[in-house]
Amino acid sequence: MTRRGLFLTFEGIDGSGKSTQARLLAERLQKAGHEVVLTREPGGSPGAEEIRRLVLEGDPDRWSAETEILLFTAARRDHLERTIEPALDAGKVVICDRFADSTRMYQGLSRGDLRGLVDQLHSLMIGREPDMTLLIDMDPETGLSRAKGRQGTEERFEDFGPELQRQMRAGFLALADEFSERFQIVNGNRDMDSVAQDVTEIVLQALR
Ligand code: ADP
Ligand code: TYD
Repeated sequence: MTRRGLFLTFEGIDGSGKSTQARLLAERLQKAGHEVVLTREPGGSPGAEEIRRLVLEGDPDRWSAETEILLFTAARRDHLERTIEPALDAGKVVICDRFADSTRMYQGLSRGDLRGLVDQLHSLMIGREPDMTLLIDMDPETGLSRAKGRQGTEERFEDFGPELQRQMRAGFLALADEFSERFQIVNGNRDMDSVAQDVTEIVLQALR
């Protein structure tokens, strides 16, 4: 069966501007006449939003990295079944703020080398990659101060601090190299509109 929709994901460190860019892209594509579903991970379906609260709130030591892999993958499976696949089957453009690459980084890299486990579980339970991934690359300190500026209760990962941000930035760039056929790197150290202009051009090109 040929899939008619387009599955786009945004990745990058906390505070890099993913949510902002995902929203701006959705608005621009809608204006250009595309049917768009804007969604996010962890979350994006009622069940996965419940899991989101479990993984993003509370003490940083609340879960082991292994348990987290299971929780994020469970959330992703539900999101895929209930939101992403139906939208793609209906020919829509799905824009997702974070996806499996975030698990490869945050659970696969940050507390020991669990990348093999992440990939095994991914191939068992998810088994698909985005058509295109936009990596918003930016300076880790700026990202952290932007993320901290937001204030909220979802701070389990932001509490890990600047060293994790640096490690994640380098990890995402390495991942972009590993999956170079689907990754596009966008410089996020600029004003929102300049970043959005680049993102829109890349995606419209892919849609043509
Ligand atoms: P992420 O989803 O990657 O964590 P957000 O889109 O939530 O990032 O942005 C984090 C904060 O930084 C928000 O307050 C947002 O308004 C601000 N922001 C986003 N993009 C830019 C930009 N290019 N320049 C300055 N501030 C930005
Ligand atoms: P998100 O709401 O995108 O945070 P931000 O806007 O600050 O980037 O994601 C919340 C946190 O969840 C983020 O610190 C990264 C983490 N995360 C994982 O650890 N693994 C995952 O698989 C996903 C999707 C997110």
